[in-house]
Amino acid sequence: MKKPVIAIDGFSSTGKSSISKIIAEKLGIVHLDTGALYRGITWFALQNCLNEDQTINLEQLFDSFSLIELEFKNDNGELVLFLNHINISKEIRSNEVSDNVSLIAKQKEVRDFLLQSQRNLAEKGGIIMDGRDIGTVVLPNADFKFFLTASIEERTKRRYQELLSLGIEADEKQVKQNLVARDKIDSEREIAPLKRAEDAIVIDNTMLTKKETIESILTHLKN
Ligand code: C5P
Repeated sequence: MKKPVIAIDGFSSTGKSSISKIIAEKLGIVHLDTGALYRGITWFALQNCLNEDQTINLEQLFDSFSLIELEFKNDNGELVLFLNHINISKEIRSNEVSDNVSLIAKQKEVRDFLLQSQRNLAEKGGIIMDGRDIGTVVLPNADFKFFLTASIEERTKRRYQELLSLGIEADEKQVKQNLVARDKIDSEREIAPLKRAEDAIVIDNTMLTKKETIESILTHLKN
């Protein structure tokens, strides 16, 4: 039997990636964190495509796509992102990347660059992909679609703790500002905005633990 294709979309810091990773392990399928790809391109741009005033030069970035090789590799049982053979899994979580990623992700050129490779990965089935436009644009025919949401206060707390656990300096107020700003840009952009697919199951996990959210998703997958 063909293994399922599962799309998980939702707001920033609703636990999409960590939840998807555990579900993938339980079901023996692949997990793709598409946000990491947008973060990887943003990291590349911050390293290689800056104007004199330190803003990102978009034209230069678009001209550099042929120089960008993003690849997930297995590193001690964990899939981590490599940019041109260098492990950038920690760098992509930096505040600098978080502050710029939504401006990069709203560019048509960037979305086009990443679209086909995401679709190719789902061709054979057996994948859970998390992001913002998976159920609406990348995999509109996914077998299951979920849309995760939670209060901004709860999401701020989670993201703040995540940054601290990664050893990244963080200020709770700035974390909240970044989440609000990203959600706004992601929801209002012209191409592939963050929104619930009509046939997606909505899960508000403000009051749920990670384990409870996973159980809720697994229950829907069984039905
Ligand atoms: O999932 P994560 O928070 O790491 O995603 C970082 C950013 O990447 C999002 O705020 C959004 O701008 C962009 N993104 C996107 N489409 C996706 C996944 C992420 O635009 N499918």
